Amino acid sequence: MAGSGSPRSSRHGSRRGSRHDSPRNSARSHFRRLALSKVYALLEPGPVLLLTTFHKGKANVMTMSWQTPMDFEPPLVGCVISNRDFSFTALKASRECVLAVPDAAMASKVVACGNHSGSTVDKFVRFGLTPQPAALVAAPLIAECFANLECRVVDTRFVNRYSFFVLEVVTAWVERGNTEPQTLHHRGKGLFMLSGENIRLPSKMK
Ligand SMILES: Cc1cc2nc3c(=O)[nH]c(=O)nc-3n(C[C@H](O)[C@H](O)[C@H](O)COP(=O)(O)O)c2cc1C
Repeated sequence: MAGSGSPRSSRHGSRRGSRHDSPRNSARSHFRRLALSKVYALLEPGPVLLLTTFHKGKANVMTMSWQTPMDFEPPLVGCVISNRDFSFTALKASRECVLAVPDAAMASKVVACGNHSGSTVDKFVRFGLTPQPAALVAAPLIAECFANLECRVVDTRFVNRYSFFVLEVVTAWVERGNTEPQTLHHRGKGLFMLSGENIRLPSKMK
């Protein structure tokens, strides 16, 4: 599998062939083994979002970082929302939500929304978040967030197995004049990274 000619072995061409320096052994000295439970922290996509729902007359908000873009237009977003979360039931039943994008200044409120459940707390009141009516869905926008995406659930085929919802963004709002918001990215266990410097490269990606 790691035989000669693979990109990995050719990069170490002069040392190839020695049993002692086989790719597997050199990997062992260069890398340390990472606990499988920590893998997610390497891949956390971010930014950390707030997801709002409205169900049975009650608005709720939870923190969510396991999301991934799935298509350009209409924009599709895949989200993992645990079935232990109050929001799971609301989203499954109402099939609507808002993905609100907070900036770094909201970090402590964002974490608080992830540490409490809407089953016992009105998080809008407790953490000073302002719900605003959305245009197309019953779930509220969050006034303090620099972007708000109104979404409908369009695919639930992976919900029972993976708690994975596919959302379509039906309307998107961004704060006027806020051109360089600093987003929050989860690195696991209470560690967060703030977005920083931009660099421009000739990428063919849209
Ligand atoms: C930084 C951060 C990221 C989180 N990401 C997710 C996530 O992607 N999916 C998820 O199900 N829960 C996630 N959580 C946990 C939920 O936000 C948490 O269980 C919350 O209490 C659920 O609220 P609810 O019961 O009101 O729905 C995250 C929490 C934090 C602090």
